[in-house]
Amino acid sequence: MREIQEINVGLLGLGVVGGGVATTLIDQSLSISQKIGLPVNLKKILVRDLNKPRDSNVPPGLITTNPEDILADPSIQIVVEVIGGTEPAAQYLKDALSSGKHVVTANKEAMAKYGPELFDLARQNRVNLLFEASVGGGIPIVGSLMSQLLANDIQSIRGIINGTTNYILTQMADQHSETDFHQALAEAQQQGFAEADPTNDVEGFDAVYKLSILASLAFHQRVSPDDIYRQGITNLQPQDFRYAQELGYAIKSLAVVTLEQGDIRARVYPALVPVEHMLAKVDGVYNAVEVTGSLCGQVLFHGRGAGRGPTTSAVMGDLIDIGRRLHINQPPIPVIESGHTLRVQSIDDLETQYYIRLNIADQPGVLAQISKILGDRSISIASVLQKDTFPDEQKAELVITTHPARDASVQEAMRLVAELDVVNQVSNMLRIEG
Ligand SMILES: NC(=O)c1ccc[n+]([C@@H]2O[C@H](COP(=O)([O-])OP(=O)(O)OC[C@H]3O[C@@H](n4cnc5c(N)ncnc54)[C@H](OP(=O)(O)O)[C@@H]3O)[C@@H](O)[C@H]2O)c1
Repeated sequence: MREIQEINVGLLGLGVVGGGVATTLIDQSLSISQKIGLPVNLKKILVRDLNKPRDSNVPPGLITTNPEDILADPSIQIVVEVIGGTEPAAQYLKDALSSGKHVVTANKEAMAKYGPELFDLARQNRVNLLFEASVGGGIPIVGSLMSQLLANDIQSIRGIINGTTNYILTQMADQHSETDFHQALAEAQQQGFAEADPTNDVEGFDAVYKLSILASLAFHQRVSPDDIYRQGITNLQPQDFRYAQELGYAIKSLAVVTLEQGDIRARVYPALVPVEHMLAKVDGVYNAVEVTGSLCGQVLFHGRGAGRGPTTSAVMGDLIDIGRRLHINQPPIPVIESGHTLRVQSIDDLETQYYIRLNIADQPGVLAQISKILGDRSISIASVLQKDTFPDEQKAELVITTHPARDASVQEAMRLVAELDVVNQVSNMLRIEG
């Protein structure tokens, strides 16, 4: 085999992350080359718009709008994809792998949707496909699941893996501000923590993609985004946070995958977490992932889940890893597949506790009617709080928590409760985790 004299990198994308990667490759070229043991060159950078002003000190001669300048250049061994989205990014990933290039990507959506196809291409072409930055920004969770935690049978992963929603929920939890969802979102957008179109974050899609990646690595089989239950945070009201706190809980948007009786259950939803739980203390744009393994017990990863610095750290870590492997002629890092297929169960069979907030008629006998519906479905009530009353409208708010019950039963009960004449609205139903 011909010895490699230098590492040439092609960069797809020069935005928040690409700008960080380009600057690091240029400004820290010497130290990166020393870490790899070979000179490293940034050869070309693909962008959409050549005339866009750039905040990174990239020589204009490196920039192109023609993907073939990178994908068809035989001297480029490593392609870094930081464009995002599925098209054209996914096609570029496939083309790079097919032409025998090693790939580093930060693209959670492409990895979640096309992971199996991309891994197949990497295997067929004997190249590395690394994606640390796709989950948790600067937190080294992907690599840990791919190597350091491999000896464990993973029992569960619980995480706060979307900084935008965690920032919004942290603002809403501030008891003094009574900030509603729309105010908190507007502030997050002002601070640059939420995009102009926040759907991907606040409706849970982003966390679903990331959980799909983590769950697939943890259980060595594909857990598709379509198998993951998803509930966004748009229905939360300031009083949910007040009541949750009175009950001893914080509200967090969690991504959870568990292995129960040989089945996988995966969900992304806002949930009540006991205030003393480690995840309840993760605030603002921070991310945290708690992994429970058969040997390691509980391990908590905590850090910045997004932003130029943390994401560049993850991308560069993968790039250096591949560079070192190329230097010493090591074969690619395999992605382990178990060969067996655990069932991925729907949320219907989940057994957990519930927090239910109802807007009811302020009159006697209401609770009896609600209790009957719950009781008929074996849902036992753990606590009832009659909260804010609105005497002028003869309405009141009732907050019920339940003992563990089957999810499908609680959902059916809530449909029937909503039909009662004495119930104006089932205002919210949240699961309690931990
Ligand atoms: N931002 C974060 O904190 C963060 C954290 C973790 C993971 N990620 C992931 O990293 C990836 C990049 O995110 P980002 O925030 O850096 O995105 P971004 O700021 O929007 O940058 C995207 C870059 O890709 C280029 N691009 C977009 N469409 C293109 C096309 N069709 N052809 C060629 N170039 C195209 C853009 O070119 P122009 O500059 O010419 O428009 C831009 O340079 C995404 O997968 C994202 O999910 C980001």
